Amino acid sequence: AAADVNAVERTLAMVKPDGVSGSHVEAIKTLIRDAGFTIAAERYWHFSEAVAKEFYAEHSERGFFPNLVEFICSGPSLALILEKEHAIADWRLLIGPTDSSRAREEFPKSIRAKFGVDSQKNCVHGSDSRQAAIREIALLFEQDQTAKKSMQHDEL
Ligand code: TYD
Ligand code: MG
Repeated sequence: AAADVNAVERTLAMVKPDGVSGSHVEAIKTLIRDAGFTIAAERYWHFSEAVAKEFYAEHSERGFFPNLVEFICSGPSLALILEKEHAIADWRLLIGPTDSSRAREEFPKSIRAKFGVDSQKNCVHGSDSRQAAIREIALLFEQDQTAKKSMQHDEL
């Protein structure tokens, strides 16, 4: 229906281990709020290997997958549910391209340009579709965590 066009959307954002250990969390949350997003929920997680593999399952056949899983498990990440009209596309625009070097050349105001290192240590994650957002939010916020012993969280 036409009324749904401007409906508030939810997306899964995440500050990855390089962003948390580099003390970029507060700066990133300021950029999030300045861009008009509401932070509906946030939670620190220290990914286990099993959950990292589930989170990034679509990339399991890629050569970078083992290093990606190791990196995501290397320290705590901050997962956030962001809400706003067009949250999914707008958050992807704000974070910029996957490769932080390309981000610095093409989107210097993006979060990956400002805080990312390369195409692996790129500081932040964003769901790339409505289906991905639903899946990722369920994985990190909605599943019965007591039944999910493979994932341990670190409240900082
Ligand atoms: P991808 O979904 O392609 O990028 P994005 O995070 O922009 O949606 O890849 C997921 C993550 O995998 C990416 O954020 C970092 C890692 N990755 C690498 O380590 N090397 C690579 O060459 C690519 C493409 C991704
Ligand atoms: Mg992706």
